Amino acid sequence: MALSYSELSRSLKGERLPAAFVDLDAFDRNTERVLATLEPGLSLRPASKSLRVVTLLERLLAHPSGRIRGVMCFCARELAALAARGIDDLLLAYPAHQSADLELLADVAARGVKLHVVTDSEAGARRLGEAARAKHTELPVLLCVDMSLVLLGGAVHLGVRRSPLHTPAQVVALARVVASTPGLSFQGLMAYEAQVAGLGDASPFARAQNPIKAALRRASMRELGARRREMVEELTKAGLSPRLVNGGGSGSLAATTAATGVTEVTAGSAFLKSHLFDYYRDPHMNELEPAAFFALEVTRHPAPGFVTCAGGGYVASGTPGEDKAPRPHLPPGLRLLPQEMAGEVQTPLQLPRGLSLPLGSPVVFRHAKAGELAERFEEYLLFQGGELTGRTKTYRGEGWCFL
Ligand SMILES: Cc1ncc(COP(=O)(O)O)c(C=O)c1O
Repeated sequence: MALSYSELSRSLKGERLPAAFVDLDAFDRNTERVLATLEPGLSLRPASKSLRVVTLLERLLAHPSGRIRGVMCFCARELAALAARGIDDLLLAYPAHQSADLELLADVAARGVKLHVVTDSEAGARRLGEAARAKHTELPVLLCVDMSLVLLGGAVHLGVRRSPLHTPAQVVALARVVASTPGLSFQGLMAYEAQVAGLGDASPFARAQNPIKAALRRASMRELGARRREMVEELTKAGLSPRLVNGGGSGSLAATTAATGVTEVTAGSAFLKSHLFDYYRDPHMNELEPAAFFALEVTRHPAPGFVTCAGGGYVASGTPGEDKAPRPHLPPGLRLLPQEMAGEVQTPLQLPRGLSLPLGSPVVFRHAKAGELAERFEEYLLFQGGELTGRTKTYRGEGWCFL
């Protein structure tokens, strides 16, 4: 059962607002839903950026199914920090080039922590090799490949600007370079279909585009599934059979299957279900429930029918738009004002008819993105069974700031 406004306002009495909180029951139910969507035989690697809370990562890794393995993280310092907290099997999803980062990665590898680093260029591979040799260790490497949909000879590019490795031939050529670089071992691919995972096809903000987006999701998944499989086949023919092929994101979980070449799937946002993930047709996305929230204090009654909360301008990254603003969640029926939205010092709201909110009472919101909320709060309050049962540090509370 989702937390009710009365349960929340009772529990939040005495807590300083703004406060952020996680409904652990909803988080656990989402975990089961994610695992039920995952094809049998595939394992799940959580994406750290969509949680940014060590204890939540640990909660996933302790799942009794044993199917949640390793963590995908996003910068070298984060990898080292998670390794220092005892988390093993870390996949660094972005190429590292700065000397301090390369040294750090080689140090962590030399200590025996299981990790994978990615590269998408010969220059990147060369620098990784130098760093590994300087520490007399080996760095296991995945190639980060481009899963965008490219049409009309490159004139149309539907996807993110990430890696230059698009064709199986390009992948095999760089895999050979990695495999022959002392200090490196070639392990496989990271092949994330960002344009499918991030493309909500049931958006209330741009309804006319939804059918086009749905068609693009289908077309892209067909094309990339075949291409990812072909990459695996060509590597195998070249004697470089990949041991690990990572793909997927919360928004493409159901379509990321072994037939599309992957050995494991990544998801992060699905566990907390920030509101950008409300805007998908996929049934598995619709089964997920919100699990992370923040509460602001009502500090003014500017006019009948309105309240104004303190703070709240936690706007998400990405293409600016209404969908990146926080969404009022509880009590139901509250509306942001288009001329102000969520502001740096105040967030005014229009009340539904018949509702009044006393000064000092909480209004509950959802962030558009799952992990970015943790950059705003030092701790998350934890709810279980409708009660406030604990609290846990976010990355910010750990004193960590990576991105
Ligand atoms: C490489 C990679 N894989 C997977 C994901 C999916 O993360 P989420 O499930 O939180 O959308 C991301 C998100 O940025 C990513 O960069």
